[in-house]
Amino acid sequence: MRSLSTASAPSGGTTIFTEMTALAHRTGAVNLGQGFPDTDGPPAMLEAARAAIAAGANQYPPLDGVPELRTAIATQRSLRYGTPYDPDTEIMVTTGATEALTAALLALCEPDDEVIVLEPYYDSYAAGVALARARLRTVPMRPDSTGRFRFDPADLSAAITPRSRLVLVNSPHNPTGTVLSLQELAAIADCCHRADLIAVTDEVYEYLTYDGVTHIPLASLPGMRDRTLTISSAGKTFSATGWKVGWVCGPARLIKAVRQVKQYLTFASGTAFQHAVALALRTQQHWVADLARQLQTRRNQLRASLTAAGLSPFACQGTYFLQADIRPLGLTDGFRFCRSLPGQVGVAAIPSAAFYRDPEAGLPFIRFAFCKRPEVLDEAARRLTSLRSTPCQEVE
Ligand SMILES: Cc1ncc(COP(=O)(O)O)c(C=O)c1O
Repeated sequence: MRSLSTASAPSGGTTIFTEMTALAHRTGAVNLGQGFPDTDGPPAMLEAARAAIAAGANQYPPLDGVPELRTAIATQRSLRYGTPYDPDTEIMVTTGATEALTAALLALCEPDDEVIVLEPYYDSYAAGVALARARLRTVPMRPDSTGRFRFDPADLSAAITPRSRLVLVNSPHNPTGTVLSLQELAAIADCCHRADLIAVTDEVYEYLTYDGVTHIPLASLPGMRDRTLTISSAGKTFSATGWKVGWVCGPARLIKAVRQVKQYLTFASGTAFQHAVALALRTQQHWVADLARQLQTRRNQLRASLTAAGLSPFACQGTYFLQADIRPLGLTDGFRFCRSLPGQVGVAAIPSAAFYRDPEAGLPFIRFAFCKRPEVLDEAARRLTSLRSTPCQEVE
């Protein structure tokens, strides 16, 4: 059997996300492990989905997605980032960003090709690379003196070999919350040009940035559009993670390659949801801007609670996530800490080591999701204060 073993799913077992959610249920813990919002997306979008179902949008959509959504994506990329795409040949709607990522890896990698990713990384990358029988090469991100995770461009250059095929870049970045700067993106672009690499970007948190930091797509850098597949989805932008409406934009030759794989993965999905997301992209930009403002406040709320509990939170410029270091509590093993936290304190988090190929590298870090209602974060804060008086024991 094919092994898709990753740090989060050791040797084919269930992922740490599943384990932590089950533990949160069993113990009645506030679940800040899983990254999905506990409130709905824009009412106009929800209504549009209901209307689309009532109007009969219930059969297969076209393989590339409904034209209305592809046009809305083209307009959004053009207006927001100045990167125009032809909705007929350069945009494909997918079953979430996950399908776009996996289809891109399957379409573009030959066995033993190397895929460069920043570590820590979202767990589906390693699985997608394994499915393609390619190899993962990691470039470490480490916290600087301000607590922002960053990579060293020299490490990126050193990761390139004659087998390098593509670089897979996630910004805003899960789990670190880093939003890559223009300078960092330029270093990646430079490597792509020098080694003739394709770039695949995961931009699912493109709208969720804070403190005036803005997201810059790699494809908007000089010369990058023609070698980049840009992936995003409606899940985080419109608080509709269960709809699984994603998309990939890029030059026609790369989109054509992805299409050939994607047609046999799902063919297509979510006709009514596609219509609703098209409406949201056209008319709900103000709703998303408000969501980002609210999330910034919640990040601040969670950061204050973690600090008060004696943990040391890192910087977070975007996404749903805030990482913290458990070493100030005198502890070092995030896996054991996260296994004991729900039972002892009543809060669930995820050990960041699940996002590393070498779990040792991220062992003292844990990840909390702040995409929850303020009262849920308040309750988590109240429970976390007990960490100060009775530090959590690490359990096996
Ligand atoms: C970095 C990253 N990429 C992709 C996804 C999955 O996106 P989708 O639900 O659109 O497949 C997630 C979900 O948590 C994510 O954090």
